[in-house]
Amino acid sequence: MTRVSVLITNIGELVTNAPQDAVSVASPGPFCAVNDAALVIEDGLVAWVGPAAQAPAADELTDAAGRAVLPGFVDSHAHLVFAGERGAEFAARMAGLPYSAGGIRSTVAATRAASDGQLRAGLARLAAELAAQGTTTFECKSGYGLTVADEARSVALAAEVTPEVTYLGAHVVPAEYESDVAGYLDLVCGPMLAACAPFARWVDVFCERGAFGADEAAAVLAAGEAAGLVPRVHANQLGPGPGVQVAVQAGAASADHCTYLTDADVDALASSGGTVATLLPGVEFSTRQPYPDARRLLEAGVTVAIATDCNPGSCFSSSMPLCIALAVREMRMTTQEAVWAATAGGAHALRRTDVGHLGVGARADLVMLDGPTHAYLAYRPGVPLVARVWQGGVALGRE
Ligand code: NIG
Ligand code: FE
Repeated sequence: MTRVSVLITNIGELVTNAPQDAVSVASPGPFCAVNDAALVIEDGLVAWVGPAAQAPAADELTDAAGRAVLPGFVDSHAHLVFAGERGAEFAARMAGLPYSAGGIRSTVAATRAASDGQLRAGLARLAAELAAQGTTTFECKSGYGLTVADEARSVALAAEVTPEVTYLGAHVVPAEYESDVAGYLDLVCGPMLAACAPFARWVDVFCERGAFGADEAAAVLAAGEAAGLVPRVHANQLGPGPGVQVAVQAGAASADHCTYLTDADVDALASSGGTVATLLPGVEFSTRQPYPDARRLLEAGVTVAIATDCNPGSCFSSSMPLCIALAVREMRMTTQEAVWAATAGGAHALRRTDVGHLGVGARADLVMLDGPTHAYLAYRPGVPLVARVWQGGVALGRE
């Protein structure tokens, strides 16, 4: 097979998240960018990065015409396997009703009633939306099936589109187990887990009033770990609670939402040595809840990721650029912090070293913006700025 190398040159700003003097980096570093840069792709990987004036020759040439190039976005939290929609619930919320997790059950009913083909088509549509907006790695949860068969098909379908599959049988207690929560937990930790674990990398639990308490959540995570899955937790979304502590104690890769945190929660995350705080500002936008205090987390030294939480209830947006704009405008993150959190931060939350940065050897997952710097993602909110996308060195985008 002939190796075709591609030189992308005349890049106005190349965000690498890799120190400029590093010849090769094994994992995402701090926010770093090179102006007037070039990048060479070879065999699906980043082969060279540096000033355009020093770029080596390559088989093919792409002229970025001064535009910015970033690592592809890493969306580390999404619920994409579902049927139906909840537009009326959203409209009612905007008319004054609060968000509650109760709507999840209506999506569960629609999902159970859908055929595999309908679920696969919905998933493909959302996966295409993500890619068109610059997301090159995404996580996908089950959690709208809540029977052994429906959870198993959810993770199996998710595994068709991403390696980052999360088993979320512990999303809520389904209606038929309303008066037998212990029985549902036995199912989640027993036959449902056994059916799902072969397709999943992660186990998640919604630890919240109205969903699962601390002991229940810890039991679900422990069972998942025993089956070879790595924990992550929906934590402290709707109010203060034990979710973050449960996540840190379980050594979870990430505690997601983190909207209502105590000082002890922030300390626990800061000293966890590996539990990322994944903030989901699209949820607060879509539910009118207060935004998480990103500055408090950053100032405490917590690793922060941004993700969409794309789902039909609390945030039906697949747009990482929207989340970046919200993180900057509403959560007072700098443009650099927000872009880092949406790339390298997501990679940390998924414990991936090959994505979220453009050091030599990284996967060639790139986004070219119709704008000269990364700041345009927040400076021009709502504008389709993603001009081209490369995934594993393959160009997906338009131009
Ligand atoms: O992350 N919090 C739990 N799960 C989703 C919401 C799911 C839904 O409302 O359908 C979330 O916000
Ligand atoms: Fe979620």
